[in-house]
Amino acid sequence: MGPVRTELMWQAVVDAVEVASDAVPGEGLNVLDLGGGTGSDAVRLAHLGHRVTVVDPSPDALASLHRRGVEAGLEHTVRGIQGDAADLLDHVEQSSIDLVICHGVLEHVDDPGQALATVATVLRPGGHASVVVSGRNAAVTARALAGDFIAAQTLLGTTSTTWDTQTMGPRRFVLEEVQELLGAHGFVTVATNGLRVFADLVPSAIVDTEPGARDALYALERLVRTSSDFTSLSAGLQSIARLDLNSAPSDTGGKHAAL
Ligand SMILES: C[S@@+](CC[C@H](N)C(=O)[O-])C[C@H]1O[C@@H](n2cnc3c(N)ncnc32)[C@H](O)[C@@H]1O
Repeated sequence: MGPVRTELMWQAVVDAVEVASDAVPGEGLNVLDLGGGTGSDAVRLAHLGHRVTVVDPSPDALASLHRRGVEAGLEHTVRGIQGDAADLLDHVEQSSIDLVICHGVLEHVDDPGQALATVATVLRPGGHASVVVSGRNAAVTARALAGDFIAAQTLLGTTSTTWDTQTMGPRRFVLEEVQELLGAHGFVTVATNGLRVFADLVPSAIVDTEPGARDALYALERLVRTSSDFTSLSAGLQSIARLDLNSAPSDTGGKHAAL
């Protein structure tokens, strides 16, 4: 097994694919990995038989993605496009996607609501989105454990909408904020998982040197991921959501306005 963090994040993708595949049985999915970076998940998804489009603003990340795709012989099922959440509709057809992976991206975009509205527009009705964001409570805990109590208090007093990414860095969320955003853009949340409740707090010296520690930590994380007691403290908050067939029009003025 690779690093625990990497495997937990990949498992979050697998969990989302499982939910989305129930709605599209028998054939591979059309997957959009928004902000998919260097494409390690995208290439693994293509290995499983899915057709994957990565849209990411970083040319360096896309170059790595291209290399990975060629090395794996999967360059025809993984394509990279330079773009971002704001201009997504210039690159991806409306209602063409079965599953959008949006992991670690809403922290960086100018307007998370606009990003989800656009995600809704490229999804086919009944399609799914998997959203992973950084947990604010985990950040508070990490600051406090590091002895930076003032920073911990500052984070506690902030919400994802009052967060200033210019001065505070990538935005952090609590689960209720993500679910509210998803609901406001026509999504019904079907599953929530807490990713990395412990993995970011445990010193890597323990995980990398103790025999069996990596597997045991992975197993522990998988055990607690659906427990609401632990989810609120996790460093990664995953929401898997279905685009409601009767969803209200999104504010991109997209095709779902006709539903
Ligand atoms: C933390 S990385 C996450 C990468 C990958 N999704 C993962 O889960 O490992 C954030 C990614 O979002 C991309 N990104 C930054 N701003 C973006 C935007 N406005 N729209 C789409 N992607 C963006 C970055 O280039 C980077 O690849």
